[in-house]
Amino acid sequence: MIQRPRGTRDFGPEEMEVRRHFEDMMRKEAALHGFREVATPIFEHTELFTLKSGPGVVEEIYAFQDKGGREICLRPELTASVMRFFISDLTNLPRPLKLFYFGQCFRYERPQAGRYREFFQFGAEIIGSPTPETDAEAIGLAAAILERTGLRDYRIRIGHIGILREMLARAGVSGDAALPILQRLDKKEYPEAEALMAQAGMGREAIDGVIATTQVTGPITVLDGVQGPAGAYIREVYDILQAMGFSNLSVDLGVVRGLAYYTGMVFEVDAPKLGAEKQICGGGSYSLSELFGGEKVFSTGFAIGFDRTLLAIQAEGVEFVRPGITAYVVPVTDSARMRAFQVVGMLRRAGVSADVDIMRRGVGKSLRYASSINAKYAVIVGEKELESDSVTLRDMASGEQSLVRAEELPKRLKE
Ligand code: HAM
Repeated sequence: MIQRPRGTRDFGPEEMEVRRHFEDMMRKEAALHGFREVATPIFEHTELFTLKSGPGVVEEIYAFQDKGGREICLRPELTASVMRFFISDLTNLPRPLKLFYFGQCFRYERPQAGRYREFFQFGAEIIGSPTPETDAEAIGLAAAILERTGLRDYRIRIGHIGILREMLARAGVSGDAALPILQRLDKKEYPEAEALMAQAGMGREAIDGVIATTQVTGPITVLDGVQGPAGAYIREVYDILQAMGFSNLSVDLGVVRGLAYYTGMVFEVDAPKLGAEKQICGGGSYSLSELFGGEKVFSTGFAIGFDRTLLAIQAEGVEFVRPGITAYVVPVTDSARMRAFQVVGMLRRAGVSADVDIMRRGVGKSLRYASSINAKYAVIVGEKELESDSVTLRDMASGEQSLVRAEELPKRLKE
């Protein structure tokens, strides 16, 4: 038997119903906020990701040479792809440009609960605006989507990578040299981060200052002790989100983010019920376009880990209505089969979900099957019904039956 590759999953019909339900919900919410959908290829030139993150990132992604000898990889995320697309084709669109996407990403990780090699992200990017309003609008969409799913136990933590970058720069570690340190801090590997800072020539006081800053977390008042423009900036973002009606917000200057491109506000969302892999969303403001050959453009975005969000939704037992099927059409005799196909065709054309016996089963077996696929009604077509141009409509839950004229059926089933 051939196994599926490690870190991947198959999704059965039950699971796909859940996934599609929440995927549609997220798309609708994004549209409600004035975002429009884009799609980019699943594979890209590896350079798109190594340019900012360095060649080391190849270890973490699916990278290979294609038959033409090109360095190609499966996308580990979509922000770089969207920015590449923006620079090549979308720079003339009015700004702010508010885009969203849904698609799979691939990372060569050690698989565990909530961590896969193939996973899905629902993300958004606002391109072309550097204001706190922009950051609030991005966080606001993530928050609204999570709120809409019915999830209750999660917390939005907002920070500012500029604060740590500035502290490191003042201690002589600037630009990309700060990256390995920030990556350790992101993973909360403090001894390793301290060692790297010492190696980079930072003194004890500066190192302690950085570590202490990453531990500033709590309600908005923790910013009272933070000097400089970044603290005031987070406060503005926070106030706008509160005005929009979001409440489960907190400040966390320890939000560092694993990806290299963030420059300002950064945020993450955790669902504590998930245990180790509890981060269900992450994002922030960044500037990537100049790296890809465009003009400098400020952007802010986020990606919701779709799979983890579903795990959190399941862990909380959030209910949702499965689509099911409205009608199962059952021909009683062979001579009624053609009529059954007419009826099913009419229902489907009218937008009523309908299925029909294609295994030439008897009525009893057909009704059992109808119940196993959760059909709301059975539409029974027999000789008696043929004569009166009617069908017998059977409510599958109550067992009640009534004779309905065929042309009235779509209207009845839509009610
Ligand atoms: P990220 O934090 O790397 O950010 O990924 C976003 C979310 O994807 C994570 O919070 C997590 O829920 C989910 N995720 C990441 N890796 C895995 C995995 N191996 N298995 C399952 N879920 C995973 C980004 O990708 C940025 N592009 C977000 C962004 C957009 N920043 C600005 N714009």
